[in-house]
Amino acid sequence: MTNRRAEFINMVDHLTDVPQKIVQKEARLASQSPYRQYYHIEGESGAIGDPNGFSYFNGKYHLFHQWSPLAFSQSPHYTQHGWKHLISKDLVHWENLGAGMESDTPLDRYGTYSGSAIPVEDKLFLMYTGNTWVNTQSEDDWHRVPFQVGAMMDKDNQVVKWTKPLMKGPLPGYTGHFRDPKIFKKDDTYYAVLGIQRENLTGTALLVKSKDLKNWKIVGEIKPTANQSLGYMWECPDYYEIGDNGILEFCPQGLKEKDNHFRNIYQNGYFIGKKLNLDTGEFDCQNFQELDKGFDFYAMQTMQSPDDRRILMAWMGISDIEYPTTKFHYNGSLIFPREITVKNNHIYQSPIREIKNIYSTNYTGKVTVKHCEKVNAGNVNARDIKIDVDCSSADYLILDLFADQKNTNHLRLIFNQKKNEFIVDRSHCGVSFAEAYGNTRFCSLDLSKKVKVRILQDISSAEIFLNDGKEVFSLRLFSPSEDHNIFLTSHNGTSVVDYDIHELQKIM
Ligand code: FRU
Repeated sequence: MTNRRAEFINMVDHLTDVPQKIVQKEARLASQSPYRQYYHIEGESGAIGDPNGFSYFNGKYHLFHQWSPLAFSQSPHYTQHGWKHLISKDLVHWENLGAGMESDTPLDRYGTYSGSAIPVEDKLFLMYTGNTWVNTQSEDDWHRVPFQVGAMMDKDNQVVKWTKPLMKGPLPGYTGHFRDPKIFKKDDTYYAVLGIQRENLTGTALLVKSKDLKNWKIVGEIKPTANQSLGYMWECPDYYEIGDNGILEFCPQGLKEKDNHFRNIYQNGYFIGKKLNLDTGEFDCQNFQELDKGFDFYAMQTMQSPDDRRILMAWMGISDIEYPTTKFHYNGSLIFPREITVKNNHIYQSPIREIKNIYSTNYTGKVTVKHCEKVNAGNVNARDIKIDVDCSSADYLILDLFADQKNTNHLRLIFNQKKNEFIVDRSHCGVSFAEAYGNTRFCSLDLSKKVKVRILQDISSAEIFLNDGKEVFSLRLFSPSEDHNIFLTSHNGTSVVDYDIHELQKIM
């Protein structure tokens, strides 16, 4: 608590109020990091987090994200600055527009928290949570007052925040944890889903609606038939429909680890079912499923592209984890955008097809792996790797990425045919971190038949897609750049691997 009070005193309204010398010094230090990504979005310095306001407006994709460029500077130092704004024509190359919104009004004084956006006539409407604290002068009686706030952005990307809040928390029966509105429109009504904590300290999602964006009515809690009690707070909910399916994504906090599930500090996942009843909040759905089983994935948000694809963005990171880049005064990366499809009540994810825009050298081949084989595919860890794995005649096949010459340091992927299990192991992979949450992640996988594997490798991350994105694992890792080798090892039998690898350009 005391720390936060010290932070309040240091806060500035606008980054332009901070001497350029300080801002540039932070950016210079961050740029010296050996872990800077080639094609994933990162911050120029400080901390980045949740994608916000992901939308298509005025002929471009707009993406904002949580942004605190001075999170690691001594003075000034603050961790809740605002939203950074990026625009793109292809979801791959991004133009940095700098501050989109900063925490500069009485409604968002202590944090322009997460939110979303929707085009309204010739403007983009932004809906977000303004975080405020009251009684900050007293040691023990200060508490959170969340506002849901509206703002309009014009075609010149100028944002005007509304001074009257759309909603003020805490709502009766709930605590001050009330945030992250995701707006959508159905017929002539706007709806939003928000994360909220009940007074009994359980998490849920609230559905609200409005005809004019100014007056909002509470429909009620979303009532999933799956009716699982999921943690103490749900952050960053998102509701959307694909075909006849309704999908509620959210990040439940406080789930206990169970049978290799929920191993991260905070979770992410979804309910899928029939379309949500927007009059009552009733939601006929299946049990909760994890969206991404990797180590570093959180706060996802989707948007509908003009050609009708559902595109997913997320933070490739999780709160309260100390990442090794902190040493260079920055933290956080976003995932590479993904397209979502649905089959048999399950979400499939794959990297957006526009990734081709950054393809360079291509390596293809077929290897029959008897013992250990090295795959030659350039010497930079920025690749789109597609491989078909057939290890049905072996006990298991190991794929090592980010490997040194001797293959002692690596990110290890194990296809265990004996156990029909897939394992990601980052225990011998550069700088260790977040070890309290384990070094391995698993899923069951039928290895009696061929498996399609796709991996987006960037300098300090991997996104692994199995069988057309039925299972996905996203993670950060921090190994030396000379560890760029790829090895295949087959145990107790021969495996066959077809590969098609594209090196990816450095665009960040
Ligand atoms: C999720 C989150 C959101 C909140 C934002 C603040 O990572 O905690 O619930 O709006 O981050 O940065």
